[in-house]
Amino acid sequence: MPDAERLDLTARPRRLRRLDSLRRLVAETRLSVDSLVYPIFIEPGSGIEQPIDAMPGQSILSPDRAANLARTAAGLGIPAVLLFGRPRHKDDTGSDAHAADGAVQEAIRRIKDAVPNLTVITDVCLCAYTSHGHCGILDDESIDNDRSVAAIARVALSHAEAGADLVAPSDMMDGRVGAIRAVLDDAGHPDTAILAYAAKYASAFYGPFREAADSAPAFGDRRSYQMDPPNIREALREIELDIAEGADIVMVKPALAYLDVIAAARRRFDLPLAAYNVSGEYAMVKAAVERGWIDEQKVVTESLTAIARAGAGIIVTYWALDFARWQG
Ligand code: PBG
Repeated sequence: MPDAERLDLTARPRRLRRLDSLRRLVAETRLSVDSLVYPIFIEPGSGIEQPIDAMPGQSILSPDRAANLARTAAGLGIPAVLLFGRPRHKDDTGSDAHAADGAVQEAIRRIKDAVPNLTVITDVCLCAYTSHGHCGILDDESIDNDRSVAAIARVALSHAEAGADLVAPSDMMDGRVGAIRAVLDDAGHPDTAILAYAAKYASAFYGPFREAADSAPAFGDRRSYQMDPPNIREALREIELDIAEGADIVMVKPALAYLDVIAAARRRFDLPLAAYNVSGEYAMVKAAVERGWIDEQKVVTESLTAIARAGAGIIVTYWALDFARWQG
């Protein structure tokens, strides 16, 4: 009769979990600061640093302050920032979004000036700039896809002219990646890359961001252009189209509720794959941390590791600076 206290096992997976050094050695996913992109909200003006209520620790900054923060991010080893703009004025077509002297365009110039080797990515959209808060141009109450695409391409060009390294269309209109590529190439910007928000879902997890960007739709919702959460095959189709139109990097958004989409995209496509750890994902953790219910560093490290394990090599996260500091 076998000794009940000593099992006759050949496989004992616990052998490799004995030491911290050994666990590090066999880790299948290595999360690094090199993967992180830090989002910054830009407001016209100077000397502005306005905290965002629903996103503790994040602020809306004027271009001068944004350049300082970008320098800090670069100093911590973060390779890229993603800029979101707020307009001087809103109108039907979001015209301030392509103004050469707009806040984002100025922030691009200042950041590239201050830290030339930091990669500057810009969010290309109209929602913060339109009076109605939709990501495109309206024909009555519906979005005119093709007019919206032309306006969005113009915004992308203004960012490229200001010196953006990558433009990131987040509007989800059909054909915008191809239109942006054509406009950039025609205007002599063949080296400006496109990070496409390729599979962007109509998600309630964007709530806190819309407060920061003041970009909530004045009527209706974004479900006629952003994707429906039940769909994953459609996400792969969207990604495939964006790649065919010339995307250099594709992104899935949000991240944590869509890890299956990230994993499927990683298996199917060879382009660099990004995931956006969005504002609602940030706010939920922050709220629980404030109540003392969870350990921020552990929960965030585990979450970002999960996004990387699912297959994202690039992670956009509001925790980029914190994560970099935790490594130090
Ligand atoms: C603009 C845009 C949004 C986000 C990124 N770009 C909001 C939206 O689509 O409503 C969300 C980012 C976040 O929640 O952190 N279209």
